Amino acid sequence: MNTLFSHVTQVPRDPILGLNELFQADSRPNKINLGVGVYYDEQGHMPLLEVVKHTEAQLAEHSAAKGYLPIDGIQNYNKGAQQLLLGKDASAIHQERAVTIQSLGGTGALRLGADFLKMVVPNAVVAISNPSWENHRALFEKAGFEVVEYPYYDSQTQNLDIEGMLHSLEQLAPQSIVVLHACCHNPTGIDPTFEQWQRIAQVLKEKQLIPFMDIAYQGFGDGLDEDAKAVRYLAELNIPMLISSSFSKSFALYGERVGALTVLTSTAEQSPKVLSQLKRMARTNYSNPPTHGAQIVNLVLNEPSRFAAWEAELSQMRLRIRTMRQQLVAKLAEHGVKKDMSFILDQQGMFSYSGLTQAQAQRLRDEDAIYLLDTGRICVAALNEDNLDTVATAIARVMADS
Ligand code: LMR
Repeated sequence: MNTLFSHVTQVPRDPILGLNELFQADSRPNKINLGVGVYYDEQGHMPLLEVVKHTEAQLAEHSAAKGYLPIDGIQNYNKGAQQLLLGKDASAIHQERAVTIQSLGGTGALRLGADFLKMVVPNAVVAISNPSWENHRALFEKAGFEVVEYPYYDSQTQNLDIEGMLHSLEQLAPQSIVVLHACCHNPTGIDPTFEQWQRIAQVLKEKQLIPFMDIAYQGFGDGLDEDAKAVRYLAELNIPMLISSSFSKSFALYGERVGALTVLTSTAEQSPKVLSQLKRMARTNYSNPPTHGAQIVNLVLNEPSRFAAWEAELSQMRLRIRTMRQQLVAKLAEHGVKKDMSFILDQQGMFSYSGLTQAQAQRLRDEDAIYLLDTGRICVAALNEDNLDTVATAIARVMADS
């Protein structure tokens, strides 16, 4: 029968969150989730950070009615997010060329930015890295853009294809949008060196491209300031750009949807106009952002003692991931993997692009209840002393068979 929704087709499962749904539905008791980008502690639990727990408790003591936030969110939160990103002394801040709006996580920031750019440069193409975070293409296509890819990962060297990347960026028409992972590239874990960032920046500037920096893992690479180096460098060059930040991972506040979109304008005069457009976009989409998570992050970012406590917890997470990388490489060798897997040690952030094929990922899921993305991306932050041996044994087995 032909009814209103008869032509609605089924969308395939989301490559990341859909895999999570499969994992949840799996009844095997020893299942291991290395799919979604979530940090788990040594006990295999998603941590509630101490600083978050204390801040939350204090907020609860002074609990108040839950009014609407302003359309662009908590002002001091926006200021704190901006300073964390650009540095307190950034000239863009002093010259009032930085506009920040609280967003629904990093994804919400990307979408707000995409909708804004659709208004400013409606015919632009969006270039994303090959490979990139699974949601980038879908998100920019949904916002109405044509999405193309620039080379990024060289599977031969398991490293960055910098020449291919630069060459491809040089071919883009002026005012094309280039999505860049500011640190801890998702999914490969391979970041440009600072010298490579300088070369990328030169092309962006010369070709008048519009960088859209995605920074969802600040603090998971080398440190909070270190991981913002690329963003700060581009900002100092006065390149107009957009930046999406997320506090989902760095505060373990995944479900609170705490993010921010920052736009760097060319003059102070443009800033209030840009902000007014962003507010219009937020208002006509979700009205205003949620309160709770941003209140916590606001207090932490703006109070030095809380900030120091947060930074210390974040460092622990970063170091634990490093240790897991080392142990994974050692265990794989112990279990007979002959291939040099030391590239895992050079990758940054939560992920390792393991080189495992889709067929191998499928086997690990079916035979061992070990979930990783079909692209071979492993969330190293989900490994621990208890599951490491099981994971290494299973990976060594599927690698040996193929
Ligand atoms: C991931 O890449 O696994 C995370 O960013 C979670 C997500 O929303 O996809």
